[in-house]
Amino acid sequence: MNPTWVQHLLVLGTLLGAGYTSADTAGSWCYEDPKCGPETWAALPQGHCNGTRKSPINIITPAAVHNPHLGVVSLAGYGDAGKLTSMENKGTTVYVHLADGLRLSAQGLPATYTAKSFHLHWGQGAAQPGSEHLINYKSFSMELHIVHTKNNLSMTDALKDPEGIAVLAFFLQATAHARPSHYWDSFTQHLKKVALKGEDTDLDGSFSLRELLGSVDLTRYYRYHGSLTTPNCDEVVVWTVFPDPILVPPGVVSAFPSILSSTDSDTGPRLQNNYRPLQSLGDRQVQASAALRVAPSSSSTPRPAALIPMLISTAAIAWHL
Ligand SMILES: *[C@@H]1O[C@H](CO)[C@@H](O)[C@H](O)[C@H]1NC(C)=O
Ligand SMILES: *[C@@H]1O[C@H](CO)[C@@H](O)[C@H](O)[C@H]1NC(C)=O
Ligand SMILES: [Zn+2]
Repeated sequence: MNPTWVQHLLVLGTLLGAGYTSADTAGSWCYEDPKCGPETWAALPQGHCNGTRKSPINIITPAAVHNPHLGVVSLAGYGDAGKLTSMENKGTTVYVHLADGLRLSAQGLPATYTAKSFHLHWGQGAAQPGSEHLINYKSFSMELHIVHTKNNLSMTDALKDPEGIAVLAFFLQATAHARPSHYWDSFTQHLKKVALKGEDTDLDGSFSLRELLGSVDLTRYYRYHGSLTTPNCDEVVVWTVFPDPILVPPGVVSAFPSILSSTDSDTGPRLQNNYRPLQSLGDRQVQASAALRVAPSSSSTPRPAALIPMLISTAAIAWHL
């Protein structure tokens, strides 16, 4: 065959291939392409992305209602490295499957929740942060989400319960002063084996979730009711957001977008800026845990002793809603 024809056929094949792929993934979503990015999610069939208790949000800390009943979050089994079974590039995030046996319990949660997986959100390296939640309009380099279901429900069943899912959200902040983390280094080494969308790799026990979390204080957190931050944006999530970031060297943060591709091709767009824009809080309330109480600042302010029972009862009422 004439080489020009071969070239034409190749081009035609590529076009057909591309056409097929996009038809095949109709109803799919993305972050960076305006054709399928967050602005289009509300229109997805069967989705809830246009709801009224959406996530992520900006947490305005002085507006959070202090709830003295919100004590330490208790994590059982999170130190067991053998529970992290495999890592997968989903094209929209990097996802770690968790074996059975990680249990979360905490005041304000209606049941014990079982961890099923975790994944991360990021921007474009250390210079461009990509957390989903913001604290007083400040974003962080990355955000880690541990996804749990109530009473070990399957994900499908959890999506039918308004409190079916509990997500623990931890921020990662790149800083040149951070001590090198053997565990995050090992995590980013594994990224190389899942560079392309659809690739997965078994994990080897070189890090546990507790080791990745470092020394984050599990008594200091914000709690609110929201949604998944990816389609279908189901409004079934009890969020627990820890404001004190895990400090990591900048190289950890830049590894994610530089190693991971959002497609099954090396030359495809980088997997980056995979965070949903802020959603409005509406008439919801954010609660602050007991340890986040701000001490009365000066003696010139009248001691708000009379206010305390009122705040407690407000919190208690809110909690029952
Ligand atoms: C989302 O909800 C708003 C307010 O209810 C409505 O005006 C808008 O048309 C909805 N958008 C979509 C895509 O459904
Ligand atoms: C939790 O659910 C998983 C998946 O359905 C199952 O394999 C596991 O045995 C369950 N764990 C308990 C303690 O019931
Ligand atoms: Zn997430």
